[in-house]
Amino acid sequence: MKKELVIVLDFGGQYNQLVARRVRECNVYCEIYSYKTDLEKIKAMNPKGIILTGGPNSCYEADSPTYSKELFELGIPVLGLCYGAQLMMHVLGGKVEKADHREYGKTEVLVDKTSSKIFEGVSEKTICWMSHFDYISQVAPGFEITSHTDNCPCASSENAEKGLYAIQFHPEVLHTQEGSKMLYNFVRGVCGCSGDWRMDNFVEEQIKAIREKVGDGKVLCALSGGVDSSVAAVLLSKAIGNQLTCVFVDHGLLRKNEGDEVEAVFGPEGPYELNFIRVNAQQRYYEKLKGVEEPEAKRKIIGEEFIRVFEEEAKKIGKVDFLVQGTIYPDVVESGLGGESAVIKSHHNVGGLPDHVDFKEIIEPLRDLFKDEVRKAGLELGIPEYLVFRQPFPGPGLGIRIIGEVTEEKVKIVQDADAIYREEIANAGLDRSIGQYFAALTNMRSVGVMGDERTYDYAIALRAVNTIDFMTAESAQIPYEVLNKVMSRIINEVRGVNRVMYDLTSKPPGTIEFE
Ligand code: XMP
Repeated sequence: MKKELVIVLDFGGQYNQLVARRVRECNVYCEIYSYKTDLEKIKAMNPKGIILTGGPNSCYEADSPTYSKELFELGIPVLGLCYGAQLMMHVLGGKVEKADHREYGKTEVLVDKTSSKIFEGVSEKTICWMSHFDYISQVAPGFEITSHTDNCPCASSENAEKGLYAIQFHPEVLHTQEGSKMLYNFVRGVCGCSGDWRMDNFVEEQIKAIREKVGDGKVLCALSGGVDSSVAAVLLSKAIGNQLTCVFVDHGLLRKNEGDEVEAVFGPEGPYELNFIRVNAQQRYYEKLKGVEEPEAKRKIIGEEFIRVFEEEAKKIGKVDFLVQGTIYPDVVESGLGGESAVIKSHHNVGGLPDHVDFKEIIEPLRDLFKDEVRKAGLELGIPEYLVFRQPFPGPGLGIRIIGEVTEEKVKIVQDADAIYREEIANAGLDRSIGQYFAALTNMRSVGVMGDERTYDYAIALRAVNTIDFMTAESAQIPYEVLNKVMSRIINEVRGVNRVMYDLTSKPPGTIEFE
C-alpha cells in the first residue's frame, strides 16, 4: 500500500509534525519516530529518506539526544534540520559551538552553491527562519558549505555524494519563503520519491482494505458529527454499506443544537445510507461528572462512558466485531505514541481508552492522516464542504471547556455564550479565516452590577486561535467592535454571566482548549 516512506526522526523540536506535513504536501508519505528508534527498525522500514528535526538541546553536551554514526552510512539520504544539522556535523567529525548571539527570526540566506540539489529553483538570496544559539563552526570532512548568512558562516552544507544534507534554518515553517521547495527538492529530487501519496489513492485503498478486513462482520462507528468521525463514517459506509451502524452519543456536552444537526445529516432523512442510532445519554454523563474537577479525571470519565454506551448499544444490535474511531495522526503523536513530544493531554480517543473493551478490534481508518488530509479525503468522498470545513470540536466536548465541575446549568451557559460568539464571528465574515474559536466557562465568579442589583456570576472566556497544525497557535486578532458586540450580547442574553474575557495566550505555553 504505502510504497514510499520518508521518516522524520524527532529530536524534540516543536515543528516535528510540520516537517512531516510539508513532506506529505510533496505527495510523499511520511511518519514521525523518536530519535531513540533502533537502527534495525529503521532499516526494516526501508525509508527512501530520513529527516532529523530540530530540538532544544546542544549536541555537544553529554546527555543530549543523539544517533550513532551508522545512521549516515545506510546509503539512505539524510537531511538534518537545525539541531539535526548540528548533530550530523558533530557525529561526523565537524564542530558545533555556542554563538555569541542567538540568531532568531527571518533572515536573509545567501546561497553559495546554486547547483546544490536542495537549492534547485531557489533564489540566490532567500528569506529563511532561523532559531539557534549553537552554530556549525566547522563542517564535517567531505562536506561543503552551500549557503551562509551575515551571522552564520554555515547556513547549510552537504556531502552530495553520500546524500547527506544539513540545513541550519527551518524550511518547514512558512516564514522560510522557499522552504517547501527545498523539502520538495530533498524528497523528490535527492531521495527520488515519485509522489505516490495522494488522497484519491488513499480513499480507494482504504475502502478496499476495510472490505478485506471486515469481511461480513458488523461494524459500529462512533459518530460525533465532527470532521474526523464524519469522514470515517462516510468512508466506512462506502466500503461496507449497511454492515455499518453509526451510534451518535449525545453526551450533553455538545454545542447548542448540535445533536439535532448531526441527526439531520446522518439520520434517516440525510443523504447517507447508514444505520443511525442516537443515544440521549446527557443525564448519565452529568451524574458521572458530578463533583469531578480534575481535567484528566473528567476526560477519563467522558472517554470511558463513551465506551460503556457503545458496549450497551452493541449488545442491543447483536454481535459487533469492530469499533471505528476517527483518531488522526496528531492525536497519535501527541499521545506520546509517535515522536518525542510529551504526553500533554490524554486524547480520549487514543491514550485514555479503558482497558476493558468489548469489541474484537478497533478500526481507525484516519490514523495516518493530518487534519488537512482528512479534509481532502472528505472532499474526495463527496462530503459537502460545510461539513468538511467544520471547525474542530474535541471528543470530550464542552466537558473540557468548563473549567472544574461540569453541571447541566454550566453546560447551558457555555452553549448559549458559544452560540452567540459563533453567530457574531460568522456575521463579521471571519468564520472561515479563524482556525478555531469557542467560548469557555471559567470557574471564576465575580461581583458585578446589573441595573441596580449586585451580581455574583461566572466569567466567560472567548478563545480564538490561528494555527497551521494545532500544535502551535496564536490568538486571532478579532476586531475590537466584534469582541465588544459579542461581550454585550452574552452579558445581556445569557443568564449567569457577568464578565467576558478574551484569551490572548498562544500555544505554547497555553493549549487551545482550557483543560
Ligand atoms: P489543545 O487543547 O491540546 O488542542 O491545544 C489541540 C486541538 O485538539 C483538540 N482537542 C481534542 N480533540 N479529543 C479530541 O478529539 C480530545 O480530547 C481533545 N483535546 C483537544 C482541540 O480542540 C484542538 O483542535
